[in-house]
Amino acid sequence: MKNNSTHKIIIILNSILVVLLFIIVLNFSIHVVRTREFNNRIHTLVKNETNNEVSVSGSMTGIWPKQDAKVSGVTNGGTYEFTITDLANYDVANWTLRVDISQDCYLNQAWNGQVEVHQDVKSNNEKVNTLDLHNFDIDYDSLNIESKGEGKNDLMIHLCEGDYLIYHPLNDNATHEYPLGGVNNSATIGMIFYFNFSFSELDYEITYQFGKSIFQGTEYIIFIVLSLLWILIFSVVMVWYIVRRKTERDLAEREAMLEETMGLITSFVDAKDSYTNGHSNRVAQYTVMLAEKLGMNEREIRYTFYAAILHDVGKCYVPDEILKKTSRLTDEEFDTIKKHTVYGGEMLKSIKTINHISDGAKYHHERYDGKGYPEGLKEQEIPYIGRIICVADAFDAMTSSRCYRAALSKEYVINELKNNIGKQFDPSVCQAMLDIIAEGKITIDNWEA
Ligand SMILES: [Fe+2]
Repeated sequence: MKNNSTHKIIIILNSILVVLLFIIVLNFSIHVVRTREFNNRIHTLVKNETNNEVSVSGSMTGIWPKQDAKVSGVTNGGTYEFTITDLANYDVANWTLRVDISQDCYLNQAWNGQVEVHQDVKSNNEKVNTLDLHNFDIDYDSLNIESKGEGKNDLMIHLCEGDYLIYHPLNDNATHEYPLGGVNNSATIGMIFYFNFSFSELDYEITYQFGKSIFQGTEYIIFIVLSLLWILIFSVVMVWYIVRRKTERDLAEREAMLEETMGLITSFVDAKDSYTNGHSNRVAQYTVMLAEKLGMNEREIRYTFYAAILHDVGKCYVPDEILKKTSRLTDEEFDTIKKHTVYGGEMLKSIKTINHISDGAKYHHERYDGKGYPEGLKEQEIPYIGRIICVADAFDAMTSSRCYRAALSKEYVINELKNNIGKQFDPSVCQAMLDIIAEGKITIDNWEA
């Protein structure tokens, strides 16, 4: 009568935890892949376009008179500034700004990054060079530079309509770097142009990617929530398992003590009636088999076992000379033996924690047809436990060797059971016994296999 329910529950809970863990890992892996794909995507935004990711604004913020002795046609200098703002919830990374030149002018300097200069684009002789305009010692001979003095204001890189600049903020040599992180984080970059009288508005276009972290976004929050849920369930399961194991150990210990005590009592009973040695234990085994066959639950089966093992406890009150008498019993002696049912019922009446335990002792000699004892009950009037033990008791009586006869044959026992269906035995219980025999679940010494 082992209790396997805890193991089944543990297996189910462990399976749920494994599946949940698999879902969590799978979701996070998908989240990592999606974030990488999202970050690899290249976006563009041109002047006057808007989106909710990035904004760019550019304008001339200051103009001053300027003439250069080495360069003709220059009357003014001006600062053109661009402000790039991150409107998204994550970093804007790897951005570059293309600035289109729409008139003849000179690039004098820029700051906070590098400028890739595309010069003479409309000619067949396009020149490209990337300048760090903080450093005037670099040789820019590949470009058309009309003036290059010692002071930074003397640098005059000639630009024509159609030429363009690409601003790179991410430069190891730059004084500042500008990955834009967080909402409304912005960077301002600037360039100084020299020109003749007036300066046209510039067209520009930003190209960018996102540097979204895997540790942000809804998917990441779901991952954290699921992980916490998993840890919570795991902790609850562990605590429950430990408590359950302890409870089961305590229960098993108490049951073992109870069974040992009952075994001791039945050994006294069986000792009084040496011809039926081991009878109580065998009847208990057959009763458990019947209870299982009849679909009883675990607790009912356990109680049935206790009732069966003590079913003849009332024999303690029957004198030894009657129990051990080998000659024919007188009617009076037989009446005395019959009283073991009433004695047993009375003895066990005080046990309230095991359902129907006294019914087993009191009614196991009742007959289904009402011709039994002690009360002559019939059919459903007889407590169920009495009807079950009745079949198990009779089966053991027939299959045990006695001093006056050997154990009866299998064929005889089966016939006897069949002939007494609805007479001595409850039909459903008797049929269960016949099924158990047919299934070969009972081994009797002199029965052939
Ligand atoms: Fe009995």
